Amino acid sequence: MRPDALRGQLPLLSSMIDDTARDDRVRAILRERRMSYLDRFALTGKVALVPGGGGAIGGAVAAALVAAGAKAAIVDVTQERAEAAAEPIRAAGGEVLALEADVTSEAECQRIVDATVERFGRLDIVVNAVGGGAGKVLFDAEAYPRDAWDWIMELNLRSTLLASQAAVRKMIELGNGGSVINISSVRATLGINAGYSAYVAAKGAISSLTRQWATEWAKHGIRVNAIAPTFVDTPQVAMLLGDPAFKAGIVARIPLGHVGTTDDITGPIVFLASDAAAFVTGQVLGVDGGLTATQ
Ligand SMILES: NC(=O)c1ccc[n+]([C@@H]2O[C@H](COP(=O)([O-])OP(=O)(O)OC[C@H]3O[C@@H](n4cnc5c(N)ncnc54)[C@H](O)[C@@H]3O)[C@@H](O)[C@H]2O)c1
Repeated sequence: MRPDALRGQLPLLSSMIDDTARDDRVRAILRERRMSYLDRFALTGKVALVPGGGGAIGGAVAAALVAAGAKAAIVDVTQERAEAAAEPIRAAGGEVLALEADVTSEAECQRIVDATVERFGRLDIVVNAVGGGAGKVLFDAEAYPRDAWDWIMELNLRSTLLASQAAVRKMIELGNGGSVINISSVRATLGINAGYSAYVAAKGAISSLTRQWATEWAKHGIRVNAIAPTFVDTPQVAMLLGDPAFKAGIVARIPLGHVGTTDDITGPIVFLASDAAAFVTGQVLGVDGGLTATQ
């Protein structure tokens, strides 16, 4: 049965089952809230903050969150990058705010959180989409330079830390709970013989912080999860994936037979942001075509 056909029948089924069903679980499921199952995946009325929203993954995520019903603040290092991501969403009828900020600064993080709440009146979701850089600083582990290490940590870990802290302080103040979604990587769990020391350390820390924050912020109704993608076809990795032999080697290890697309990333993030994931927290969801399942 098509889901929209099922939606129409739920109230009817619910009233029949009130009288006849023996299965308490079915009765509870049908009574639960007065919303259909599909509505639980929607983000209607929610407000999202997307640092790095001017990037490949962040831009796709912002568009998907808005398509699912949210309003979104898109943040990037220049107003132009933020606007470039916001404009097509606006043109399609979505409500978005484009903000310039450096989220490795505490004050800037506070400013974007305040601006988001001033504009939209609440804050429910933060997706930390600033990061990457691994392919630009590949060095042998025994000689990994301090400046490259610091840069990768700033870009990936500090950005995630500061944006989350500012957003969560506001979520606690507003008292409506929330959902924090970090972007880790398969590199958090899989080593790679290719000079990735700082990146694996940063992503490992992001996965650990995801679990730590989930335990600390649950009391405020704030869930914290992460996704861990393998290669996603984006400008960040275009050079690497442009090498046919390298790409063939990667694809051969991915059971579903291709690298990720930004569309492969958006669905899991919308799910984690939604009420359908209301009992999911502290998880790092592999979005990797089965890569880590084979290791
Ligand atoms: N592309 C991949 O293959 C892949 C795979 C696994 C994980 N990831 C992770 O996904 C995330 C996004 O990757 P992407 O490919 O979309 O990268 P991207 O470079 O396209 O996007 C990152 C965005 O963040 C912005 N940014 C950088 N520093 C900032 C700062 N201090 N303040 C505000 N904005 C800042 C950049 O301008 C850029 O628009 C990263 O954490 C990356 O590690 C990517």
